[in-house]
Amino acid sequence: MDNPPLPILLDVDTGADDALALLLAVRSPALDVRAITCVAGNHPLSNVVDNTLRLLDFVDAPDVPVAAGMQQPLLEAMRPPFPLHGNDGMADLGLPSPRRKPVGEHAVELMRRTLQDADEPLTVVALAPLTNIAVFLRMYPDLHAKIARIVSMGGTFRVPGNTSPTAEFNVRQDPEAAAMVLESGLPVTLYPLDPFRQVRFNRGEIADFLAADDVAAQTAGRIMLQMCDYFPADSALIGDAGTVAMVVDPEGATTERLPITVDLAGGVNRGRTVFDERSQKSRSTHSHWWQTSQAAIDVVARVDADRYRRLFAGTLGVQVGG
Ligand code: RIB
Ligand code: CA
Repeated sequence: MDNPPLPILLDVDTGADDALALLLAVRSPALDVRAITCVAGNHPLSNVVDNTLRLLDFVDAPDVPVAAGMQQPLLEAMRPPFPLHGNDGMADLGLPSPRRKPVGEHAVELMRRTLQDADEPLTVVALAPLTNIAVFLRMYPDLHAKIARIVSMGGTFRVPGNTSPTAEFNVRQDPEAAAMVLESGLPVTLYPLDPFRQVRFNRGEIADFLAADDVAAQTAGRIMLQMCDYFPADSALIGDAGTVAMVVDPEGATTERLPITVDLAGGVNRGRTVFDERSQKSRSTHSHWWQTSQAAIDVVARVDADRYRRLFAGTLGVQVGG
């Protein structure tokens, strides 16, 4: 007997790769998307909400509540959008204006209501700066027990950063929020740039998405083609969608359990995710300069890229090799 669909809450900053993640999430029979919360990140909040609603309408997704959340990081100002995501923040697809509207409540309140009403703990899948989730954790400590796990795309493990030499965009955009969430002591799985950079499709495979029957597959193909043309490159990453693939099929990921600290100092290392890989004994004896965070989390070191390529493509009705 197949497992019942996993109930999740998605937090996004749509975003070209957030759109790929949304397409996978709303088409996957393994997931029960209870709510989608939007946060400023790749683009200003209004664009993030509009992009999310347009995409859901365009692929005739189920009527999932969508809410607008925090408009900027806890401390820093928003940074200019990264041009990869296009002028509108979603690969300039030019999708029709949305029919559906966001709910009237703030994203943090939609999180509260969704978790409160759930008859079981939910998995929170965070694909953006962690501002919404950090504020939720501080406002509703009594509801922490209704979070089964936070799965967050963010940070780096053993690879360089993207938005700075040492930091990944989601964490660097709001390091304090990231520290509040990743060091919370709640069950956390971090999907850093290490696996993020593994799962990609080449132009030939993207053509198969474009030729597919499902409008979700065609839309995914258009987004990946825009990414290829942007760089230019012969392949495109599925980015955030790899995080959702891991939620669907965790057996495809190799994780390590380590204490994490988010560097909140200024300068070149701000927003760096630091994992203490020393032995337990060494950590406890060599504590003169730095007390390791008590918060050990599961960090994804690598994934079976072909497994997640097949999962992403197959869920959208596209057959790929590898
Ligand atoms: O660093 C990659 C992350 O930053 C992805 O979530 C992408 O959508 C951007 O938000
Ligand atoms: Ca994102």
